[in-house]
Amino acid sequence: MATRVLDLVEEARALRPAVAEVDPALRSAVQRTWRGRMIREHGSAPVFEALGEQLRRLGSQESAEAAWAACQEMAAEERRHGALCGAVVEAFGGDARAEVVDEPPLPEHDDVAPLEGAVRNVLSICCLSETVAVALISAERLEMPEGDLRRLLSTILADEVGHARFGWRWLAEMSPGLDAAARVRLGEYLRVAFAAQERHQLSLVPEGRPFPPGAAALGLCDGGAARELFYDTVNEVIVPRLEALGIPAETAWRRRGLT
Ligand SMILES: [Fe+2]
Ligand SMILES: [Fe+2]
Repeated sequence: MATRVLDLVEEARALRPAVAEVDPALRSAVQRTWRGRMIREHGSAPVFEALGEQLRRLGSQESAEAAWAACQEMAAEERRHGALCGAVVEAFGGDARAEVVDEPPLPEHDDVAPLEGAVRNVLSICCLSETVAVALISAERLEMPEGDLRRLLSTILADEVGHARFGWRWLAEMSPGLDAAARVRLGEYLRVAFAAQERHQLSLVPEGRPFPPGAAALGLCDGGAARELFYDTVNEVIVPRLEALGIPAETAWRRRGLT
């Protein structure tokens, strides 16, 4: 698979938060965590760009243009988040640079009608990924003392709240246009999307990784707590909200990944 270098050094250095000295073991854990975030945040930008194009193609009405513009803005925010996370890497003595593999393009889902295909992507990106991100980042932020790092994370959190809300609002507006058969198919899609989301989240917070004292104040999360929060967010926020919109998420979550 082709790799390339994501180099955010220049931008990140200009955004470096003021941080206290930490011991070398913790410093390298902080660099690793925030460099991973830098890559994922930056990598979300093309996802929103592609989503914007897909939503724009749904119609010539004003709302399609507005959705496109919102997605462009969210893409810019994700790039900015990449630089902000890189700034933390730099603040702790690392380089905001990494070798990355380009993700496959956003699926078009052209086996179903355009609206249904777009709903699939909004579900996956905003209602799942961004909603989980809001919960996790909110929890991380609570552990942080006042200061530059907390302010930096607060900026990211405010944007992620916007990204999740965009998707839920769009879905609420569009879901009346889905017929019964489409809702059943979306349930099937969700079984796959939930399983992928669970795999992804669990891979980010491996259990049993040592969690050094002072780590939480620097934005590192304890694997066990993060996993619990992920499951709570799915069960208490995502599934009920989707069910309220007539999308059979409860069965999909229970039967996730089954073929
Ligand atoms: Fe982000
Ligand atoms: Fe986001």
